[in-house]
Amino acid sequence: MINSNHPIITVKGLHKSYKVGKDNIPVLIDIDLEILPGEFVVILGPSGCGKSTLFNTIIGLEPPSAGHVNVQGRNVYNFDEDNRTLFRQKNFGVVYQQSNWIKSLNVIENVAFPLDIIGSRHRRSLSQAKSSLIMSGLEGHAKYTPTELSGGQQTKVAICRALITNPPIIMTDEPTGNLDTASAVSIMQQFEMLNREYKHTIVMVTHNPIYSEYATKIINMVDGKISHISVKDLVYGRQKDNFVGGAIK
Ligand SMILES: Nc1ncnc2c1ncn2[C@@H]1O[C@H](COP(=O)(O)OP(=O)(O)O)[C@@H](O)[C@H]1O
Ligand SMILES: [Mg+2]
Repeated sequence: MINSNHPIITVKGLHKSYKVGKDNIPVLIDIDLEILPGEFVVILGPSGCGKSTLFNTIIGLEPPSAGHVNVQGRNVYNFDEDNRTLFRQKNFGVVYQQSNWIKSLNVIENVAFPLDIIGSRHRRSLSQAKSSLIMSGLEGHAKYTPTELSGGQQTKVAICRALITNPPIIMTDEPTGNLDTASAVSIMQQFEMLNREYKHTIVMVTHNPIYSEYATKIINMVDGKISHISVKDLVYGRQKDNFVGGAIK
């Protein structure tokens, strides 16, 4: 599957509008994109351009007004809501700027939680969560309450939680938004390692162009539309701007 040219995510003819009073406000306009397995995609654009709406549409949380979203060849919105939730849990590890901890659980229990809810025995979930925290250098914080940790540490724990069920795709919306530069670099390096060594497909939404350097594909958005897509030439390390408006030239 990795390095295949068959997209893991396809968005085609996507429109999304919100009803505000009597008006229909368009937020996403005719979005076409393809994401291949193993890509590190940065969706880049100014605040309010529709990035989070696109993100939520891809993971099955915002039904489109028109068009479709296919993930692993399945139309995300053909599932009923329960099966869409299962499909999301199987395919996506999701990391947000704010981590939404279960406040009654400590760090290791929060990381183990996604395994618990898919029926893994609790002791087994905790053992996997421990291995994951060890890999992130956070095993010493296993018994802390998540909010006792720094922002960067919380994001690392959120990545452990997102990956505990080993989903192929990591989806992350402004993960470095609240972080100091050193913590942000550390998080970006972790995503880079997960992409290069563990072959996770990564889709990161950000308003900050400095993170494009980590991407293999950059999707630029303006006012609800894709303005430009560029793909890094992995052989020569150069940017190839041969994708425009979502159409492969
Ligand atoms: N539930 C909603 N109802 C109405 N308008 C919304 C809703 N969600 C987002 N919007 C509007 O859609 C636009 C894009 O929002 P968003 O996707 O959050 O942008 P970004 O993540 O790029 O900052 C904004 O103008 C926002 O106000
Ligand atoms: Mg946003």
